[in-house]
Parts: sequence; C-alpha cells; structure tokens
Amino acid sequence: MDPVLWPDLKEKRILLAVSGGIAAYKAAELCRLLIRCGAHVQVVMTRAAREFVGEATFAALSGEQVATRLFDPQREASISHIELTDEADLLLLAPATANLLAQMAGGLASDLVTTLYLAFQGPVVVAPAMNVKMWAHVATQQNAAVLRERGHLFVGPAEGEMACGHVGAGRMSEPEDVLLAVGYALTPSCLKGRRVLITAGSTREPLDSVRFIANHSSGKMGFALAVEAAAQGAEVTLVAGPGALEAPAGVAFERVGTAEEMATRVLQNVAAVDVIVMAAAVADYRPLEVSPVKLKKEVWGDEPQVTLERTQDILQTLGERFGAGGGPVLVGFAAESAPDTASLDTLAREKLARKRCHLLVANDISRADAGFAGDSNRVVIYAPDGSREDVPLAGKRHIASRVLAQVVQLLEDRRLAAGGGRSPVRDRP
Ligand code: CTP
Repeated sequence: MDPVLWPDLKEKRILLAVSGGIAAYKAAELCRLLIRCGAHVQVVMTRAAREFVGEATFAALSGEQVATRLFDPQREASISHIELTDEADLLLLAPATANLLAQMAGGLASDLVTTLYLAFQGPVVVAPAMNVKMWAHVATQQNAAVLRERGHLFVGPAEGEMACGHVGAGRMSEPEDVLLAVGYALTPSCLKGRRVLITAGSTREPLDSVRFIANHSSGKMGFALAVEAAAQGAEVTLVAGPGALEAPAGVAFERVGTAEEMATRVLQNVAAVDVIVMAAAVADYRPLEVSPVKLKKEVWGDEPQVTLERTQDILQTLGERFGAGGGPVLVGFAAESAPDTASLDTLAREKLARKRCHLLVANDISRADAGFAGDSNRVVIYAPDGSREDVPLAGKRHIASRVLAQVVQLLEDRRLAAGGGRSPVRDRP
C-alpha cells in the first residue's frame, strides 16, 4: 500500500497487545508502521508471545519499556497497569489467539492483556491469527461474534498458507491492513450509511493496440478520498483508471481503462449513491480512429496527424442532471496551471458554474509540491454560494478529510432542508 493512504495517527496513543503465535513477528512490523504514522505505542505482551518474539524487539521499535506482568513492582511505582488503559486512545490486539478471544468473550482477567482489555473503554481492534481449524471451530466463531457484537472491529484473519502448512482463513492480516483498520476505528463515522462513488487516476485513450494517450495523474488523491470515506463509515465504490495503486481494503474496487468505460461505470451507479467525487483526471479527448494492431512507422510516416474527438464530460453530464438538486452531491476537481492565485480563483469559479457541481476542489498543478503525482497537495474548495476554504499544503489523506468534511456538511444541510430530525452525524452517542 502506498504510504499516502496511511492514517494520520499523530497524538494517538495505542496499546498494542501481542499474544502468542507465530504471527507475533508481524506485530513488530505493525508496531513500526504505527510509529511511522505518528502514534505513541505501548506494547503489552502475553507470556506466550514472548516465546516467539523478544521484548527487546518491541522496546526498540516503540521506544517504550514493554509491559508483561500484571503486578510489576517496578512499573507499578511509576504507572499502574490500569493507568495504561486510561492513557490509551485505542486497544489493538494483534495477533489475537483463539485463547485470547475466548478469554475476552468470557470476561476473564487472568493476565495483563486480558485485565487491560476489561479495564479499557475505548475502541478495540482485533487481528486474529490461529490455525485454520481453530478459527473455523464453532467456539471461536461464537466468541468472535460476541466480540463483534460489542462493537470491536475485526480485521482478518486472512486466507492463505499457514505456518503449520494448512491453507484457509487463519493468518493474521497484513500489518498495513491492520493499520488501515486502526485508522478506521479512530475516525468519527460521519459518513455512516452513505454510499460514495469516487473516481481516481488517469484514463488511457488508445491510438493502436500498444499506444495510448494518458496523463500524469497517479490516482493518489482519489484513493486517499476512498480510504478516508471508508474510514468515516461510508460504503465506497472506487472506479480507477490504470495505475500502480492496489485496491484498498474495505472498498469496492473497479478498474477501468478509457474515459468511456469510466463514464459507463459512473452513470450506471448514479441512482445508488449519495455522493460522487470526480477526482479522476479523465481524458478530454481521444483518438477518433483506433487501430486494432500496432501501427508501423511506415504507416505513421514522419509527421503523423492524429485526429482527436471529445470524450463525454462525466461531471458535466451529472451536473446537468443533478446540479439543481434531487441527486447525489457532486464534487469536481480542477487541475489548473494558473499564473497567480486570482486567476486560479476565476478559473475555478467558472468551472464550478459550468459543470454545475456542488463543490469544486481546485489545485494549482504548476506548483512543485502540489498536484498530480505527489503525496501532498494544497487546494481550495469552492461552493456555489461563493464560499471557499483554503487547505494549506498537507498529505493527500488530510486533504481528503477536509473535502469530505464539506460533503458531510452538505448532506447535513440537505437532510435538515428536507425536514430531518436528529442527526445521525451530530447526535451520535
Ligand atoms: N471530468 C469528467 N469528464 C471528462 C473530463 C473531466 O468528468 N471527460 C471531470 C474531472 O474528473 C474533474 C473535472 O471534470 O472533476 C475537471 O476536469 P478538467 O479536465 O480539469 O476540466 P475541464 O472542464 O475539462 O477544463 P479544461 O481542461 O479546459 O481546464
């Protein structure tokens, strides 16, 4: 996964409980990722976990002494075991063995990890790892169901070949997938119950069987929007052009090639979504004629002429249909090479009006630190009422959260205008 999609965990305190299993080595990588995302990590290990990975590994990675004993005279003098839970924003159990799940479900407090679990009142993320048959056993399934019922977020177990040679569900999910789940659990569910369609990346318009016209869009902005929307509880469909980024976990993913394919996928989904974010850099033109075979230089000649035709403008089509309301919230992007801020403003406001979208996110692609291929961006978000929000240079995941905050506001305004009662967003417990 591209680091641009990692959650921002600055100032988050995570209690990482490692239980015994071969997957404990994966928890070391997970710990490293959490730290890289800015989190403070306190590792707690069961006795069995220490059979697989030494405390020193986690102490070195987290920069903190690892807690292992329920009553450690040295630790109790400075911080009691219960205080560990008071400070934490999230409890992450990775890997969680069948035994640990059973103890959690039953409310046992037989060691430090299970005691902390009982004392902790915040969000809990569980990454189970065990033998295929142990995971499939009805007892484990019942325990997992009890824990899910309590609102704990399960990630995995993943399917694949296990250390014991069995194949099936039981492997601990990859550390990056667990990291995403941690981000989800720490993000307020502002888009819960909403269906969001996001487009990302460039499209490819073929000239012949091997050549195509495309642009430099990496798709990172659209992917960041998809992951952030999913973290906020939305049901997300991501329609992406060709590119290196893989489908993010927890998102319905569709790969397309041309602008026409993207238009088809988006327009097919219109009735089923509440929000459409057109972050893709859709080709505006495509070759009028496409050769089914590779064209030789003898055919092209020295100065080949290619006639282009316009592609369907998806956002404009949607704007004409739904700009006045009654359909999904429409968010457009504008990549402008503006000579100055005033011109960016004029170009963006003109595009917002012409495409009749409900929000337009403009960025100046002539700046080296913002735009198409990089990990950061600086944007201005325009609304039809004339308001604008300047989002200074930040990672694309942060930019995505600012764009979605405005979308949430628009959905809320619509709900209130329709005479809605208690807000599922603002009045949630
Ligand atoms: N867009 C689209 N379909 C297209 C082209 C663009 O839906 N065929 C969408 C993009 O996804 C983006 C917005 O329209 O959300 C702005 O695209 P852009 O190409 O920058 O704007 P244009 O209106 O084509 O203006 P110009 O290229 O002249 O700047």
